[in-house]
Amino acid sequence: MLLKDRIALVTGGASGLGLATATAFVREGATVVINDLRLDAAKKAAAALGERHFAVGGDVSSEEAVAAMVKTTLDRFGRIDILVNNAGMPDNFTPTVDQTLDHWQRLIDVHLTGTYLMSKTVAPSMIARKSGVILNLNSIAGLLGLPVRTAYSAAKAGIGMLTQVLGCEWGPHNVRVNAVAPGYILTPLTEKLIADGKIDEKRIRRRTPMGTLGFAEDIAEAMVFLASDKAKFITAITLPVDGGYCSWGAPSDAFPLD
Ligand SMILES: NC(=O)c1ccc[n+]([C@@H]2O[C@H](COP(=O)([O-])OP(=O)(O)OC[C@H]3O[C@@H](n4cnc5c(N)ncnc54)[C@H](O)[C@@H]3O)[C@@H](O)[C@H]2O)c1
Repeated sequence: MLLKDRIALVTGGASGLGLATATAFVREGATVVINDLRLDAAKKAAAALGERHFAVGGDVSSEEAVAAMVKTTLDRFGRIDILVNNAGMPDNFTPTVDQTLDHWQRLIDVHLTGTYLMSKTVAPSMIARKSGVILNLNSIAGLLGLPVRTAYSAAKAGIGMLTQVLGCEWGPHNVRVNAVAPGYILTPLTEKLIADGKIDEKRIRRRTPMGTLGFAEDIAEAMVFLASDKAKFITAITLPVDGGYCSWGAPSDAFPLD
């Protein structure tokens, strides 16, 4: 077991990549605290994982809610070994000139400010113990230019730099900070985007060297590795888990599909 007896707090963990990561962490011996904006869903997810796991509600973009959920977790378990900043929401694929400031602000608040607030609130206890791992969710949208995905991409690119800055700042305290940049992964979020015609599954497969969308488990396994001592000399990086999407630069299709 790679994460035996570790305490992990996973934000937005009631669904998709967060839930898959929590599930893989439990398989590796961790106890997980599932945060989600939807407390009922978080409770259901934690209960399904087994008795020792726990749920906390709260919006990661609210300083008060973040302070409360971190305090609740520390009071109950005494420490947080692993923080996964996963909570997120999709953008609405509206041309930039038609977007509202509220939409921009909400995406920046949830993704970028949420990652910042959670990290800075959890880090003091990790620094005091000279041990901890923070894992952030970047995206191919934070690495490549995707038209109309304005706030989402800017927030994710910000998370990439936050990962570098915090990894450098907290490296001397043995607190590692890394990010995973998923390509297109089948989760409730992407399934809805496909169903709504916002993204085209066939085109994505053609553009991906490995010819397929990923599964939540593909991200979860990368998270397990980065959270574990096997990655003890890895910090301040973003690891793409994207079937080769970000590396493809030729003008032709990456994968033959009829
Ligand atoms: N699915 C993909 O293909 C993909 C690709 C790249 C990056 N990501 C990133 O991975 C993360 C998870 O995405 P997913 O596809 O699993 O999405 P999802 O919608 O399945 O899960 C996101 C969860 O976050 C929760 N949430 C939303 N706002 C919150 C807030 N303010 N506070 C607390 N919880 C909140 C939601 O209730 C939901 O349960 C996101 O950060 C997303 O941007 C996903």
